[in-house]
Amino acid sequence: MATPKIPTVDLTPFFKEGYEDEKRKIIDSITKACCEYGFFQIVNHGVPLDLTSQALKVSKKFFESPNDAKLKCSPLPNAPVPAGYNKKPNPSYEFNEFLIMLPPGSDFNIFPENPPEFREVMEELFSQFLKIGMVVERILSECLGLPPCVLKEFNDDRSWDFLIAIFYLPATEKERIGANPHKDVSCFTIVLQDEVAGLEVEKDGEWILIAPQPGALVVNIGDALQVLMNDKFKSPRHRVVRPNGRSRNSFAFFHNLSGDKWIQPLPQYTKEIVEPPKYRPFLYKEYLQKRRESKSKNVTRLEDEITISHYAVPEE
Ligand code: OGA
Ligand code: NI
Repeated sequence: MATPKIPTVDLTPFFKEGYEDEKRKIIDSITKACCEYGFFQIVNHGVPLDLTSQALKVSKKFFESPNDAKLKCSPLPNAPVPAGYNKKPNPSYEFNEFLIMLPPGSDFNIFPENPPEFREVMEELFSQFLKIGMVVERILSECLGLPPCVLKEFNDDRSWDFLIAIFYLPATEKERIGANPHKDVSCFTIVLQDEVAGLEVEKDGEWILIAPQPGALVVNIGDALQVLMNDKFKSPRHRVVRPNGRSRNSFAFFHNLSGDKWIQPLPQYTKEIVEPPKYRPFLYKEYLQKRRESKSKNVTRLEDEITISHYAVPEE
């Protein structure tokens, strides 16, 4: 059987007036990709390619710097989100190093002194991800058969979005997992990966590679969108397998909701089509908090992690 291929779509028409037929075709392929995999890739997304390659370069330089330089970027003790440098304990059930960044201007952001251009590049990358995030948000609304501005109207607060620069060391004989199988809590996530393969999505019990493609960004659906759409699109389980003999570098941008939002399936997906809601209402930040707690306890069994099913309404 041929290996299933995650579709890549060219977003050029979405930066122009008109081109309605082309836009419709793209919306149809993204809808299909979201139903089948919860993942797709985009090219001609408007994020400058010299910026993405520079971001990967400076991030690699930072993670390859001495430990004490990295530890100087440890999160502030009172930070609501551990912005700054973090490292998963080794050995643990997954292994990677990462630096979390909140929106530019946040008092909690911590940047290394070296490489000196790190901050500027990260801030520019953040702004570019915010922009493409808004385009993807409109497209996904249409994929869900709703007006393009429906998600923006539901939540127009971008202050809960964040960006993570991630570094995976080469696999060892004992450990190959870089990020354990998980689902993202976001509305959707945009991933920039370097040329080293490792990101995989689970489909019908098999792991399918999201093959790196020059110039492409990866998009995947997250839990928040799954709840709002009452399971029309599912937040896919994915993982990162560490490569042999070399490290891997990526960025994940989480297009979130405001933590103060109560979320539950939208009426367009329940009342208006006479479908019972599959989730009870819950406060988004409570879910974020529970997820962070279970991660920081370094749970070693996957089934101990809190997931969206915590809020599922039991079936009759
Ligand atoms: C994540 C994630 C993928 C990657 O951070 O949630 O899935 O390629 N990252 O690093
Ligand atoms: Ni993820």
